[in-house]
Amino acid sequence: MKQKRDLLSLVEFSPEEIRAILTRAKEFKRSRLHKERKIFSNKTGVLIFEKPSLRTRITFETAIHELGGHAITLTSDMVGIGKRESAEDVARNLERWVHLIVARTYSHSTVEQLAEYSSIPVINALTDTFHPCQALAFAMTLDEYYGGKKKKKIVFIGDSNNVCNSIMVLCAKLGLDFTVACPPGYEPAPQVLNMAAAIAVKSGAHLAVSHDPAGALAGATALYTDVWTSMGQEKESEKRAKDFAAFQVNKKLMALAPADAVVSHCLPAHRGEEITSDVLDSERSIAFDEAENRLHVQKAVIDLLFS
Ligand code: CP
Ligand code: NVA
Repeated sequence: MKQKRDLLSLVEFSPEEIRAILTRAKEFKRSRLHKERKIFSNKTGVLIFEKPSLRTRITFETAIHELGGHAITLTSDMVGIGKRESAEDVARNLERWVHLIVARTYSHSTVEQLAEYSSIPVINALTDTFHPCQALAFAMTLDEYYGGKKKKKIVFIGDSNNVCNSIMVLCAKLGLDFTVACPPGYEPAPQVLNMAAAIAVKSGAHLAVSHDPAGALAGATALYTDVWTSMGQEKESEKRAKDFAAFQVNKKLMALAPADAVVSHCLPAHRGEEITSDVLDSERSIAFDEAENRLHVQKAVIDLLFS
């Protein structure tokens, strides 16, 4: 029997597979609602959300529907992983009924356990540590703007969070240079940085950590930012607002970047905090295109996992 695959951190996909996902996603985008191969026909996917979501829930439900399948969305109070029932038992039940688990959890180990104890594919829909689908949508959107050829340097301004980690892993895989500019004390966790660095050795990507947003922008192709306080960190929000004050992506910072550099954000944005509205709504912003591309890229991920 074919070994099932999961998408937990992007580390499990080769650069060739990531490029194939991006190519397939562009095909899905072009052929939307007609000529789509019904690769998920008569199949059911369960979406489990321990945290709120707009984009991820809508794009996965829509992707599954448009691929011919059926989606069931459950919130954490309905399932209670680790409270009502262990992740292992949740996984061992779900595999008996459905074909795919898409899970947004606090602890990354929860999606790892769901994957370990079920015989069906598990897709990480965001954990405290990684958000691989977002990184893939970003890569697809960058390709749309610059094509595959340009040597790219991505600069993440702000917190070394789940989205930052996944973009770093993506860059390491694809050989794109990556710098995170963050306040002291908010650097990527050493194990994530070391893992990305080991991958980067193979692709030739240059990874760097900086505390100087303006200095980091030299040669940037794209800037990326995200909220200063991620879901689950709400108690720290006052302290973080102070610590990140000098890391806002605003017009002044954009003026220091190369003139053709674009800017993105995974959304939801806290306008006036990590990014100003004049930047998010500017012609240089690709954030809403990236949000759209979540739909197409997630179809391509499902395609890879089920073909
Ligand atoms: N970017 C993203 O994952 O959005 P949601 O939290 O709304 O799903
Ligand atoms: N870093 C953010 C991303 C939201 C899509 C969070 O985890 O809340």
